[in-house]
Amino acid sequence: MEPREAIDVRDPRRYARVTGDPLDTDSLPPWCYTSDAFHAAERERVLARSWLCVGRVDMLAGAGAYRALDVAGHRVLLVRSEDGTIRALANVCRHRGTKLLEGAGTTRWIRCPFHNWTYGLDGALRGAPDMDATRGFDPTASGLLPYDTGVWNGFLFVRLTPGGPSLEASFGAMTDLFAPFRLADMVTTRTRTYDVQCNWKLFLDVFMEDYHLKAVHGASIAATYIKPAPPETGPGYASIWNPHEGTSGLTSEDRDHAFPPMTGLPASGTRYGWLYPSFAFAVTVDSVWFFEVEPDGPGRSRVAMHMGFPRAIAERNDFAKKAERYYARWHCVLDEDNRVLALQQQGLESPAARAGRYSFLEPVPSRFAQWLVAGVTA
Ligand code: FES
Ligand SMILES: [Fe+2]
Repeated sequence: MEPREAIDVRDPRRYARVTGDPLDTDSLPPWCYTSDAFHAAERERVLARSWLCVGRVDMLAGAGAYRALDVAGHRVLLVRSEDGTIRALANVCRHRGTKLLEGAGTTRWIRCPFHNWTYGLDGALRGAPDMDATRGFDPTASGLLPYDTGVWNGFLFVRLTPGGPSLEASFGAMTDLFAPFRLADMVTTRTRTYDVQCNWKLFLDVFMEDYHLKAVHGASIAATYIKPAPPETGPGYASIWNPHEGTSGLTSEDRDHAFPPMTGLPASGTRYGWLYPSFAFAVTVDSVWFFEVEPDGPGRSRVAMHMGFPRAIAERNDFAKKAERYYARWHCVLDEDNRVLALQQQGLESPAARAGRYSFLEPVPSRFAQWLVAGVTA
């Protein structure tokens, strides 16, 4: 058996069975989920060059609000300045590299804990004590390095390496598909983080295939999603429309506790979206949920699940109590997925694992695999 780490992960011949109509293809070779070399390649060639979701603009309310995140191995600081602009800055001191802020909060300055260099909310260096004698030191050229940012329907994105299509172009036809749901008017009301024991791609694949519903979600939500429409896919995205009655933000048995649905929706159901490589989200008649997925090496992922509602619902007097049933549904379903994903990862780590064939109910993982391989081998 060929050792996995000896494989040239950028050789297109390695992926000959991955490309084609999903019903003709194999899944990715197992080492795409376990190999350090493959993970380094996908991080550098795909993740670092794509638009990655870093929450929503409503999570940075007011001047000085910040979030410090790890994004594809970069330390990223999201910060809102006095004029309302949201920036993504390298969370790395220009003096000797110390990480500046942690977690989330509100601040007036960005001050380095090591030697007190101080930056404004726009990233400009405002103070550097005892640097007067340093020859040729230019404070104006020592601000925090900026990343590209973009906003789509209130979702905030960062791109770690400049170049490539605009955020709007990347979403393509998904912008029209999601327009009826008025996502820009949603507010994030709850976040829960998970250490998931699987490769980041597996976490996203399961979100966008209907094949596992009966086996994994039989007791929670499988009865809601009875007739998913065929996926709509584009060069860098996929979307699935699941028509159904009521909301999918509650389990079937909690249906009587639903908030009133948004008015003016053209149809009832849930629309799922995946902007490759790592932004997965879903919106139903009264709520939205979405993920920030950060790989932690090839075999583990850190996931933030964010949940939200239209502003009018979130401002209701009975919101906090009723929303708990929604949160319980989302946690329960994610726990169901995460249990089986840990088993999938353990299986894929075995040398006996092989690529497999897809059902007609899982074309999106095949489409994504083809997109990813094109990026890794380019
Ligand atoms: S490393 Fe930040 S001030 Fe020295
Ligand atoms: Fe699932």
